[in-house]
Amino acid sequence: MKHGKLYFALALTVILLCIAAWLVFFFNVSGTANRPITLTGGSVQGIVKPLDVVFNPPALEDAPAENRDAVLLGFKIMTETKKYAGEYVGNNLACTNCHFEGGRSKDTISLVGVAAVYPQYRSRSDFSTDLTLRTMDCFQRSMNGTAPPADSETMQALTAYFQWISKGIPIYAEVPWIGLPQMDKNLKPDAAKGDPVYKDVCARCHGGDGLGTPIAPAVWGNGSYNSGAGMNRVETFAAFVWRFMPKASPNLTPEQALDVAAFVHDKPRPHFPGTKPSKPKSIDEAK
Ligand code: HEC
Ligand code: HEC
Repeated sequence: MKHGKLYFALALTVILLCIAAWLVFFFNVSGTANRPITLTGGSVQGIVKPLDVVFNPPALEDAPAENRDAVLLGFKIMTETKKYAGEYVGNNLACTNCHFEGGRSKDTISLVGVAAVYPQYRSRSDFSTDLTLRTMDCFQRSMNGTAPPADSETMQALTAYFQWISKGIPIYAEVPWIGLPQMDKNLKPDAAKGDPVYKDVCARCHGGDGLGTPIAPAVWGNGSYNSGAGMNRVETFAAFVWRFMPKASPNLTPEQALDVAAFVHDKPRPHFPGTKPSKPKSIDEAK
């Protein structure tokens, strides 16, 4: 038969491709070292074997045509939150003030890969939470606002955006750049020592009164996050500031970061009323 050779060649090609794919898979899985990470608060220790997780968020314009508008809107909500989701915002912050570059930076509270690490158990709420519920949390606490409903355009766009910037990250992988570092538990934060740190280092951008300036957002007062926010935990604030502040040139010691965190923690800010239904004790005010 004339087509015999052709069929044979085709079959051989398929077999060779399968072997090649297996080889690639094999070396990806077993060729990387174990990378232990310590995380705080809302993040989870990966429960699958560490894979070679690569930081490479795709360009927003490359999102699939049927989702592109939602992805682009999601980015705008992250960076210009008041303009694009104003009805849910109760302060002067934008998501990007804490999740730099709309969460697409590695050097921030990164959201690249976040769609791969949810649902996860959260001790604060004492139940498993998905990405939508977690996002609602940041609206209610960090943005001192109200939670956009799951089927709102705002939440749909943010979800599409998180999903897209998590492209290529395996589900439940350990994503090393997600989460904040753990501060040394033996260090005791001292608000009095934090006062001069704030004046010398932070005030020139965030304002001597902490209420923000044209170049940096508020860190206390009515325009800031509320008492239930993750940032209102001394530990979380200290970890963030130690890693990322001053913006673009972080230079505090862990002691200074904890001291300035305690100093800012003592300042007034909007009160978080709590959410229902839930377990009132565990979700009340962040300690
Ligand atoms: C050179 C200016 C500059 C200095 C100095 C600086 N920051 Fe910031 N900080 C910023 C900017 C700008 C942002 C917002 C980043 C963005 O939107 O990309 C920010 C964001 C923050 C945030 C998160 C958003 C918010 O306002 O809650 C905190 C907290 C913060 N800074 C604390 C500090 C502390 C504490 C210090 C002093 C140790 C400090 N910063 C020093 C510029 C600065
Ligand atoms: C004042 C700072 C701040 C602002 C503003 C803020 N967040 Fe957050 N966000 C945090 C902190 C702190 C965490 C917890 C990080 C941790 O514990 O590892 C977090 C976590 C998250 C997470 C989960 C990340 C993870 O790794 O589990 C999502 C999703 C998120 N924020 C979305 C948003 C969105 C959307 C907005 C704007 C509507 C926003 N955030 C505004 C501080 C902020």
